[in-house]
Amino acid sequence: MGQKKLLRFKEINSFKNVLQYPNNMRGQWKYFFKNNHPINLELACGKGEYTVGLALMHPEKNYIGVDIKGNRLWAGAKKCLDKNITNAAFLRTQIGKINDYFEPCEVHEIWITFPDPQLRKSKANKRLTHPKFLRLYKQIQKPGGLIHLKTDSPDLYYFTKLVIDYYGLNMISDIDNVYKIKNLMPELNISTHYENLDIAKSKSVFYLCFTLPEVFSADDEIFSNSLKNEELNLNETRTN
Ligand SMILES: C[S@@+](CC[C@H](N)C(=O)[O-])C[C@H]1O[C@@H](n2cnc3c(N)ncnc32)[C@H](O)[C@@H]1O
Repeated sequence: MGQKKLLRFKEINSFKNVLQYPNNMRGQWKYFFKNNHPINLELACGKGEYTVGLALMHPEKNYIGVDIKGNRLWAGAKKCLDKNITNAAFLRTQIGKINDYFEPCEVHEIWITFPDPQLRKSKANKRLTHPKFLRLYKQIQKPGGLIHLKTDSPDLYYFTKLVIDYYGLNMISDIDNVYKIKNLMPELNISTHYENLDIAKSKSVFYLCFTLPEVFSADDEIFSNSLKNEELNLNETRTN
């Protein structure tokens, strides 16, 4: 492991705004932030550009960036400490374990920013907008809470649209090229490390905003089977 990484791992242990696999945080975040302000998550936050940017934009809300990689969280956490941003924190854990850290209705909005698109079909259930994950979010999110996805991956965008359609989620906003929009909401102007890397080379940044339904009534098996024809489905959606 590189020297810089090692140093960051050591430093992050002393950061009071980073919680690494903490015990007993369910229902406790209001005591951590010392207020009752709404709690919003940035999942797959990496260096936490959204956590920091949104916290600055909305001092009346709290933000928690979640990622498994401590050396990436270090960057956002350090920025918050240096700038004395007290309405942001970072949680190091697997997103698959997210409901170990929040109690029902403790979370308001969820941002998912440039997550790994997991392009291989066999990895579809690792996509952070797969129904497997959405069910976890449902356990901790207030009914009607917004979920925002910002991605440069057309595949993840069209996959998520399929999920929204198939599971009857409520679409709030669907933008297939964020930076072509005039009067863009300022939240969408925050750019991230991975956005700037432009790995997908898609020349577009996609945005979806949706809410979860009361129940996920659709059949996962049928959905999984239809993913076997994903290519076909995605192409169909693209031409609609
Ligand atoms: C492509 S990066 C995006 C980081 C950041 N949002 C950005 O736009 O620069 C994806 C991030 O998701 C994290 N990640 C992927 N799967 C995860 C999981 N299941 N649990 C926690 N973090 C995860 C990775 O560690 C990585 O930092």
